[in-house]
Order: sequence, then structure tokens, then C-alpha cells
Amino acid sequence: MRKRLVAGNWKMNKTPSETRAFLKELAPLVKGAKCDVVLCVPAVDLIPAVEAAKGSRIKIGAENMHFEEKGAFTGEISPAMLTDAGAKYVILGHSERREMFAETNEGVNKKALKAIEHGLIPIICCGETLTQREQGITVDHIRQQIRIAYLGIAKEDVKNTVIAYEPIWAIGTGKVATTEQAEEVCGAIRKLIAELYDRKTAGQVRILYGGSVAPSNAKELFEQPDIDGGLVGGASLKTDFAKVVLPE
Ligand code: 13P
Repeated sequence: MRKRLVAGNWKMNKTPSETRAFLKELAPLVKGAKCDVVLCVPAVDLIPAVEAAKGSRIKIGAENMHFEEKGAFTGEISPAMLTDAGAKYVILGHSERREMFAETNEGVNKKALKAIEHGLIPIICCGETLTQREQGITVDHIRQQIRIAYLGIAKEDVKNTVIAYEPIWAIGTGKVATTEQAEEVCGAIRKLIAELYDRKTAGQVRILYGGSVAPSNAKELFEQPDIDGGLVGGASLKTDFAKVVLPE
């Protein structure tokens, strides 16, 4: 069966020294975790995070990556830079990157293929705006995002990918989707993976919920049949993250 995964997304927070100090505090608190624990951190924090997490349950991931191997792409980070730094995961197509940095479904697809080629586990994000939810097109929108993100991804690689469903209206707002809303969309995503590949593959891919996940709501969300864990923003910046990893 699928192993639960709880991943933090630090966004643009914490310096390298803050990273070292925080991981030293967090590592003992998640020692007893049965799920996979990941922290996705800013690029300059990757090396200190990997070093500080050594010997703990915590794996480190990046928040973005370019789809080219190398070259004249000022300011971008390559897949080989991430793997050499010790990153195991990479968040792709977060709604903040789509909205503020003009990322497209096609770009996310290129990045996902490249991440897989380099043995990185992509955490592919999708999610609707409040307007789209009110228009009743949530599932259509998410199916389009995921269909394009998975173009050309081989069946045997799908189990090494993760999908994060993050309704944009629930990000950083304290307004968490209801468990029914979250489960409905995560279930629809799994159904789509079954259509694109097969039921076995759909049963292997991990689907996370993200958007105001906190110690108070994590347990109920993560117990839903199609929700295999969470992608956690604000709550991953505090040691309370351990309570999301190990909900009561
Ligand atoms: P919050 O948990 O702060 O709502 O952020 C969610 C998110 O965007 C994680 O990627």
C-alpha cells in the first residue's frame, strides 16, 4: 500500500543558519514518524538542510527546478545541481510559481520528465481558484493540469511521482478545504491516473492535500481514502510541523 508522505514547503523563508538551527530542533521530534517526512527548502538552504538532516527521518527537497541540463539560464537551478546537493524531491508547478512567475502546464511537464530522468521525485502541484470552484469547473481544470503534466511519463515511473492538490483559495488563508472537498478532488485525480495508465498504477501514486494544513486538521484529512498525506506551508516553518507528521 501507499506510504503516507508529509512534506513541508518553506517557500521564501529561512536563511541557511536558520535552517541548521531549525532542523536540529525538529529532527528528534519526528524520530518516531512512520510516514515519509520531507522538507522542501529554498535552493541556498539545500546543502545545510541535507547536512543537518543526516541520520534523521527527514529527507530534503527543492521548491523548483529548470528543465534544461545546463547552460545560459541565469538564475535557474538544474536537476544535477539538486541531486548533487542531496535533494530527493522537487516541488513542481506550485500555484505561486504559476501565478507569479508565469509557469505553464507544458513547462511543468518538461520539468517532471527531467526530474524523473535524474531520479528526483517530483511533487506535481495542481489546484483551482475560488472562481473556478464557484463556476463548477474544479475537476475539469485539475484534470487538464494533470493530463498535461503527465504527458510522456512512462507507466513504471508514475509510482515515483507525487501529486499535490492545493486549492488556491485555501493556501495561506487559514481556510482549509473540507475533508469532503479534498477527498472528492483527490479521488478524481486517482481516477484520472487510472484512465491514463491503469488501476494498479493509480493505486500506487501518492496524492497529497495542501492548503492551511495544521496539527488541528491533519489527522482527519490524512485518513481519507485518497489522501496520502499533505504539502504543508506555514505550519512547516515551526516545530509544530512534528504534530502534522505525527497527528494525535
Ligand atoms: P499553507 O499551508 O501555508 O496554506 O501553504 C500551502 C502550500 O502552498 C504548500 O505548498
